[in-house]
Amino acid sequence: MRKITQKTNDSATKKIVHLFFILIVLNLSVFAQQQQPKYNSFIPGEKWLDTEGIHIDSHGGNIIYVEHEKTYYWYGERRGEPRGASCYSSKDLYNWKNEGTVLKKGAIKVFERPKVIYDKIKKQYVMWFHYDGVLDGKNYRIAELGVAISKEPTGPFVIKDHYRPNGNESRDIGMYIDPKTQKAYIGYAAGHINKTIRMVELSKDYQSTTINDIDIDAHCEGPGILKKNGIYYLLTSECSGWTPNQGTYYTASNIMGPYKKQGNPFIGDVGNNSFNSQPCYIFKIPGYKDAYLYMGDRWNGRASPDSAYVFLPITITSEGNMEIHWHKEWDLSLFTPEK
Ligand code: DGJ
Repeated sequence: MRKITQKTNDSATKKIVHLFFILIVLNLSVFAQQQQPKYNSFIPGEKWLDTEGIHIDSHGGNIIYVEHEKTYYWYGERRGEPRGASCYSSKDLYNWKNEGTVLKKGAIKVFERPKVIYDKIKKQYVMWFHYDGVLDGKNYRIAELGVAISKEPTGPFVIKDHYRPNGNESRDIGMYIDPKTQKAYIGYAAGHINKTIRMVELSKDYQSTTINDIDIDAHCEGPGILKKNGIYYLLTSECSGWTPNQGTYYTASNIMGPYKKQGNPFIGDVGNNSFNSQPCYIFKIPGYKDAYLYMGDRWNGRASPDSAYVFLPITITSEGNMEIHWHKEWDLSLFTPEK
């Protein structure tokens, strides 16, 4: 009889302990949700949490706006596991939901700077990236462009090819899409090593490079491109690995050049290091007049998953100069909505 009572007591205690743990877990998750901020501004260089409260891991990439979904997608290097291309989605550019690793890099040694473009005709997403690895015993010597395709913005992207465009070494890449012609171009750090930037036009379906490929004669990395009043602006960094350096921009009246060196667009940049960042893309925010978003990486000197982002508005002055000013915190109300 005593044994039966003892057993009953034991199982009741177990149930209470179990319940207690469930309550703790529930409480913790409610607490985590309460901790997750709802952003309504950009805070350059600070920790930026996704909708689950985890730091966004999407470096060296680009943002696209998918009109038929009324959604922004942000692609970049996921430097945590599983490594490859990450994708985040957002309705407002401030709050981002993790859509996972849309291309796992697997055995590829170096997978960097993915740039995605939507092909409205074939209704598919094309990703270009820096494909690299070891050659002759040295890393970053394969120096190729890689291309991958997906039917959905959230992947999976399947690699179709990787090669040297027109035989040129290719490392950091930027991308520009002409809103009128829908033609796309890749600016790539070429030559040995990154001796120059080249610009190559993509095929109509964005899946291959054409022979329309020119030398800009600029020894730099991290290209980002915008167009305003018929002038193309090419923003670049210098070449110092993961350490930030001074930015420089070039202008041309034709995307295929010739380009003229203009100077440093980062105004009041006391550290002379692009506000401690390196350019990765310039996103023209739809729905706002002249809303050019500078996307920069703050690599923390080592490109770890928790590297931060420096997003700032780019101004083209009435004299036609490119200027990037520091803002501790800012939002889209800086721009004028288009009618
Ligand atoms: C600088 C480039 O901008 C990065 O994308 C990366 O390739 C590093 N070099 C590697 O050192």
